[in-house]
Amino acid sequence: MIRRRFLGHALGVGGLALLPGWLRAGEMDHSMHDMGAMSGMDHSSAVQPLAAENALPGNAALQPLPKLLNQGSQPGVFKAELIAAPVAVELLPGQPTSFWAYNGSVPGPLIEAREGDRVEIRFINRLEQPSTIHWHGLPVPPDQDGNPHDPVAPGGERVYRFDLPKGSAGTYWYHPHPHGHTAEQVFRGLAGAFIVRAADDPLDNIAERHLLISDLKLNADGSIAENDANDWMNGREGQFVLINGQHQPTIELKTAERWRLWNACSARYLKLDLGGHSFSLVGTDGGLLEQPQTLQEILLAPAERIEIIVQPIAQQQTVALTALTYDRQKMGNVAPEQVLTLAQVTIAKGQPTGLPQTLRAISPLGKSSADKRVVFSENMRMENGQHQMDFLVNGKAFDMHRVDMRSQLGAVELWEVYNDSHMDHPFHIHGTQFQIVEFELDGKVTPAAFLAWKDTVNLRPRETVRVKMVQSFKGLRMFHCHILEHENQGMMATLEVV
Ligand code: C2O
Ligand code: CU
Ligand code: CU
Repeated sequence: MIRRRFLGHALGVGGLALLPGWLRAGEMDHSMHDMGAMSGMDHSSAVQPLAAENALPGNAALQPLPKLLNQGSQPGVFKAELIAAPVAVELLPGQPTSFWAYNGSVPGPLIEAREGDRVEIRFINRLEQPSTIHWHGLPVPPDQDGNPHDPVAPGGERVYRFDLPKGSAGTYWYHPHPHGHTAEQVFRGLAGAFIVRAADDPLDNIAERHLLISDLKLNADGSIAENDANDWMNGREGQFVLINGQHQPTIELKTAERWRLWNACSARYLKLDLGGHSFSLVGTDGGLLEQPQTLQEILLAPAERIEIIVQPIAQQQTVALTALTYDRQKMGNVAPEQVLTLAQVTIAKGQPTGLPQTLRAISPLGKSSADKRVVFSENMRMENGQHQMDFLVNGKAFDMHRVDMRSQLGAVELWEVYNDSHMDHPFHIHGTQFQIVEFELDGKVTPAAFLAWKDTVNLRPRETVRVKMVQSFKGLRMFHCHILEHENQGMMATLEVV
């Protein structure tokens, strides 16, 4: 089934036929935005004015994510189809926007499966570029994980098949990962949520709500803006931040709710705050913590996910869910950070629901049998009289045909990741979840406050993080900065598990 949704009215997949010029324009710009091409901006056709910040309406009730229906008939098998194709959506009156979407929906449909399930997803690529689907955070065999090495050609298709092991319950997502096209395919709309559920979830008495946060940079004529030089340097941030594809929606919380939040933005950091109300952090990227943690705000770097419990309060109140300012040390002349309103939340008066003291046990990963060091760096150089920025891992830009590191199957490893640059970069590795041991900044070592499973962790300038991990499939794994423009320009490397 094809679902089309967004705010406004979808014109349907037929949008491709209606709007060939736009799509071709996208193709053209894309070929010029080759790896490392910060100078891509020179080629983009005349700079378009952006849509005004009040151009998108808000204040509609937050809609749940559409679900990907399981079309399998066997128990324990989740079987479905994801079609990546252009879709036109009317966000600005009379000026349709051409997105690239999974099954016509921006964001893509939510996949909900259970521990123990076998997942079989047929992916059909109706884009004019190669694509893949990467299952961000899931323990998927490398040849099923949408590596850039396994592109699905325009018009092509393939089936992704993997099993969800016991203990994998958590909050994941999926997005394209083709060589040199990831940033563009994500900012044009290709990303969706993936939840793995456990049979013995200690919080399954609490109502759930999903907030997939994405970013949209829209031109005044309704087209999706190309990346400019600043976007290629700092990572793209649009003038709109959306939740489940909606601009500044409203949320009514009547009883305790379990929120799963995804930062699916290309580069935007979200320092989340709920009008100063505290909430309980109960889960991270790879599922539940051992104990709930009471917090008042939390920084979600690009690609990170959390689960929190939001409780009713003593007096009904409407508060804003905001992203507070966070200085990630962008380069160049950039506008000062601003507090962003993401949603209006009406919290009912009521008694909080008691939470279990223990959510689950997490065994700390044992002694490391190998240590690895990863360094993220940037390098400015001149090329044809233009400043070019390189984004590097251990001094090199990504090369698909090179293996950068090797790990032993099943071995516990300690990875030291150092950000040798003056801007924040979120580190992400495929195929596994890691445990943060400690951070080090300015000679000060801060141990992780609690045990948690993570696949993405932010690094401030000159910060080191030490994490432990195990890879449990042989094959190639990518690790990279999850600011997608940096990944796209080479801040990525390949690990071979042998
Ligand atoms: Cu969302 Cu290579 O990752
Ligand atoms: Cu990933
Ligand atoms: Cu980066």
